[in-house]
Amino acid sequence: MNYDINDISSSCEGKKRIEWASREMPVVLTIRQRFKKEKPLKGIKISACLHITTETANLAITLKEGGAEILLCASNPLSTQDDVAASWVKDFGIPVFARKAENKKTYYSHINAVLDQKPHITMDDGADLISTLHSQRKELIKNIIGGSEETTTGIIRLRSMEKHGALKYPVIAVNDAMTKHLFDNRYGTGQSTIDGIIRATNILLAGKKVVVCGYGWCGKGVAMRARGLGANVIISEVNPINALEAIMDGFTVLPISSAAKIGDIFITLTGNTDVIRKPHFEMMKDGTILANSGHFNVEINLDELEKMSVAKRVIRENVEEYKLKNKKIYVLGEGRLVNLACAEGHPAAVMDMSFANQALVCEYLVNRPQKLAPAVYAVPKEIDEKVATLKLKTMKVEIDTLTEKQKKYLSSWSAGT
Ligand code: NAI
Repeated sequence: MNYDINDISSSCEGKKRIEWASREMPVVLTIRQRFKKEKPLKGIKISACLHITTETANLAITLKEGGAEILLCASNPLSTQDDVAASWVKDFGIPVFARKAENKKTYYSHINAVLDQKPHITMDDGADLISTLHSQRKELIKNIIGGSEETTTGIIRLRSMEKHGALKYPVIAVNDAMTKHLFDNRYGTGQSTIDGIIRATNILLAGKKVVVCGYGWCGKGVAMRARGLGANVIISEVNPINALEAIMDGFTVLPISSAAKIGDIFITLTGNTDVIRKPHFEMMKDGTILANSGHFNVEINLDELEKMSVAKRVIRENVEEYKLKNKKIYVLGEGRLVNLACAEGHPAAVMDMSFANQALVCEYLVNRPQKLAPAVYAVPKEIDEKVATLKLKTMKVEIDTLTEKQKKYLSSWSAGT
């Protein structure tokens, strides 16, 4: 078996951690049991570019049990858990091409390695695999039934490809499923981003001024959890509706140019570029801490910070100190997704729903009588509701059902005052 990982000898630890995550992934395990019997993905080759974590391992094992041949590479150079990659290879016979802290060249060589199997389905988290395939490996497009995309930034890139006529096969926007972004982006990013910041710095959040840039699904989660730990949370936004929502949720809203002067900790979650840049660094207080939890490491302009600095050193694992003439600014996890670079990413209980969607979307793509036209598609409502229903069932939560009278009432227009 061909693979490329850092250290195969750490597989034992990785295997135990994969098992631990599986305790919190009952929906994926339920799907796995059915896939094992029915083999809906028999003969299907899947190339996936996802974070190499314990939760992703449970997805990969499920797809393999369903009959798929799956190859994986990392969707971020810093998010790979090397012991998990080792266990994947050694204990589950799934080829992985990912090394924590790999450089850009290796990152793209790994993407190309998973594409070499000529996939029928692609799975992305950030659209790096699909964009490489469309720009450098176009000959593979003809084999492909469809793809799926896990995160907001990937969907933005895919919609741009679609708009410019560049997208050549159908892709399902898993991120946009309710059972994905309402839970994964909000509660998953909310908890794990704070976890990453605390693991990297061990600072007390109570009483600190925490500036959250972007009050989308991820930002809402982080703001909520930071407030829960006693921080004074300030939001910066560009969207008037999201800014209003933040106000009515009880947060202070300020433009970044005002927030920059008073914040102790800044967290970007916008999916945008250059959100914190030179004029803001100039205004910041001595000792300011910067973290990003958006998909790419472009939200904080580190090139500009570097140019303004007279010295730089690693002061603590995952914490870089930039020494400017009159102050010090600290950057966590090289400005990459702080929850994955400095902690373990989302808790398994939310990834259970995100990855249940991924598994069911693969089955949906394979079972379609006709291939879909190239475009970005929503996850079918039936899949979204099935995931929610399964999750509730595994939580042993019962809900009500509509009576016939209620169904009739909701579908009529004549009954009024
Ligand atoms: P979203 O679209 O719901 O929210 C983004 C928000 O940022 C929007 O309200 C937008 O108006 C705002 N924004 C855009 N430019 C801004 C600027 N210059 N200043 C202030 N606000 C700005 O997106 P979502 O789902 O919250 O995702 C945000 C990012 O996080 C994406 O890159 C996504 O891929 C990533 N993500 C990261 C995860 C992680 O594990 N760390 C998990 C899920 C998503």
